[in-house]
Amino acid sequence: MDASVIAPRYLTDHWHDAESAFDVTSPSSGSVLGQAADCGEAEAKAAVDVAWRAFEHWRDVNPFERAATLRRWHGLIMANQDELGRLMALEMGKPIREGRGEAAYSAGFVEWYADEAKRIYGTWFPSHLPGKRLLAIKQPVGPAYAITPWNFPAAMLTRKAAPALAAGCPMIVKPAKQTPFTALKLAELWLEAGGPPGTLQVLTTFKPGPVTQVMMDDPRIRKVSFTGSTDIGKLLYRQAAETVKRLSLELGGHAPYLVFDDADLDRAVSQVLACKFRNAGQTCVCTNRIYVQDGIYEAFAERFAAATAALVMGDPLDDATDIGPLVDGAGLAKVVEHVDEALAKGASVATGGRATGGLFYAPTVLTDVSSDMAIMHEETFGPVAPLMRFSSEEEVIAQANDTPYGLASYLYTRDLARAIRVSEALEAGLVGVNDGVPAAPYAPFGGVKESGIGREGGPWGIEEYLEIKYVSFALG
Ligand code: SIN
Repeated sequence: MDASVIAPRYLTDHWHDAESAFDVTSPSSGSVLGQAADCGEAEAKAAVDVAWRAFEHWRDVNPFERAATLRRWHGLIMANQDELGRLMALEMGKPIREGRGEAAYSAGFVEWYADEAKRIYGTWFPSHLPGKRLLAIKQPVGPAYAITPWNFPAAMLTRKAAPALAAGCPMIVKPAKQTPFTALKLAELWLEAGGPPGTLQVLTTFKPGPVTQVMMDDPRIRKVSFTGSTDIGKLLYRQAAETVKRLSLELGGHAPYLVFDDADLDRAVSQVLACKFRNAGQTCVCTNRIYVQDGIYEAFAERFAAATAALVMGDPLDDATDIGPLVDGAGLAKVVEHVDEALAKGASVATGGRATGGLFYAPTVLTDVSSDMAIMHEETFGPVAPLMRFSSEEEVIAQANDTPYGLASYLYTRDLARAIRVSEALEAGLVGVNDGVPAAPYAPFGGVKESGIGREGGPWGIEEYLEIKYVSFALG
């Protein structure tokens, strides 16, 4: 694939050839894959006009017809599963097996919300006054803007766009600069499914500031959904106040994994491994710090390090690959910095612990880790697993909650009472009990504290795109 294969274009109510463009590079090979349109303020303003016109039509389309369009989109995404997996492997280095899995995950949101479109129910409710009838109905909030991340370029797009479209809201998507092509492909499939022009737009850009500013300033954009860093989330929160927009923020995390003495060791190792090293550790819900109880610490560390060392690092296009590259130089630099700082403060390397060329970093397990190390507080977003000992349940819950973040947390135990007690005590939007990969299209996903507001997925996700209108009838 080269620049002549992927030419720069963006989508409003039709495809536009870009006036200016930027290179998109493979993190694995370093080669240029193609160019993407570098949209700015003018394109963003035009997109809002298009979204508003599309809203005037799409909100009145029969929900069963919206559902049918979403169903066709689901079918086309599944039919293009291999191609989407390949695009993700190329543009962000996701191992192709995981990329195919993500394509199916992204289609899962579309399928779920195709059904939800038909279940946007209103409610009749009683009045204390005679001769009155009261009704609450749900209506689409209006045009929405989504900022989607590079780490799940397909699933995060459909997790936002599918409920919006099901609810009757057109959506403008600004994908991450690293991963424009997956977003453009999904939009192409939406049009092929019969999605009306303007209902789903994609503006790619190298510098997101001007595009996002237009969206935040324009009162016709009624809803913003963002997945990304807590710092940018806070900025959007402030900007959204000016026009009082609805907001969903899925921000950073620092997920603890608590492995208790009574855990089934082999299963715990495989679950923590899946949780930690999915997408080379570049997942908001990946565990960032693993607390292992005294009685099994040595045995766990040994088996976990051996399993980590057996992971295959290599070309993301190869089916055998478990670990691809970091997405870019900044991502690699952060991993190197966190490991070096931990080593300087006394941590030991059980396996890995080194960059291996290009943007690759060997999957790593660190032992002798302490709470004062940056890796125990800041998101590393890479394939590094720091292990720390703990003695008591109370102590480890306090450590797990000692963070401004609250997205995911995990525990492994065979004690039912403990599983219930600890999952209730952990300050997080989602808890995996003996389950290292709990996210699903039909489950609520989102954080507490500085990990965000709102929930995506399942019946909760569509509510973010609906307003409730109260209608009171006096019968006279
Ligand atoms: C994320 O990293 O935000 C998405 C992870 C998932 O949905 O499993």
